[in-house]
Amino acid sequence: MVLRKLVAGNWKMNGSLAALGELAAIREAADRNASVDVAICPPFTLIAAAVASQPGLTIGAQDCHADDKGAHTGCISAVMLREAGAKMVIVGHSERRADQHETDAEVHAKAEAAIRNGQIAIVCVGETEAERDAGRAVAIVEGQLDGSIPRAADGAQLVVAYEPVWAIGTGRTPSVADVAEMHAAIRTKLVSLLGSAGTGVRILYGGSVKPDNARELLSVADVDGALVGGASLTAAQFVPIIEGAAACA
Ligand code: 13P
Repeated sequence: MVLRKLVAGNWKMNGSLAALGELAAIREAADRNASVDVAICPPFTLIAAAVASQPGLTIGAQDCHADDKGAHTGCISAVMLREAGAKMVIVGHSERRADQHETDAEVHAKAEAAIRNGQIAIVCVGETEAERDAGRAVAIVEGQLDGSIPRAADGAQLVVAYEPVWAIGTGRTPSVADVAEMHAAIRTKLVSLLGSAGTGVRILYGGSVKPDNARELLSVADVDGALVGGASLTAAQFVPIIEGAAACA
């Protein structure tokens, strides 16, 4: 099934009020390329200002707590994100799995919280370099999906992002054949977990997506979009990726 492509930018711990100036050109590119969905996920502190500055652009968040409220100092709930105007939440990014020791069970609970509050959960999975070298990449990702995918979700609520850890921020990307193999394996796994709803869940590729490789990666079967880090920080880099996705749509 050909799904509508989603190009989402993950600003990570970057950006400032001044950087929101990039959003006007990104929103214009989203409007020009209406066959593609576009989103930007800035840090929590910029979400409300981003929504206010470009109401027509989809704004998301980079994490949420599994609970809707409570005694969790420093955490942000999906209820709060919804109020701030976020429409999507990235959960289980490999940087959080590593830095904050997030487990599959926690990622699962966070994805459920996002969906419960009307947001799209973007669940991230991906192997390390050592796991790929050991021939375990597909098995690792299948295990992450087993542990972190909410079983009642469908394509309107859930997106999966395949981000090989060794490709993030390194300028390295897997071969087209490796991307195709992994995305096909993820699709098969989603169908086994979700039934026919698994055919409608978009599978993004993430890891060193740039203007010069976006089209090649986005034309692989079952690559339904991209999760973009560094190249989403400026319109100059992000807009050509949106256009590349539209050319493959
Ligand atoms: P880069 O595009 O900077 O490699 O980051 C990818 C990523 O982690 C997006 O979530």
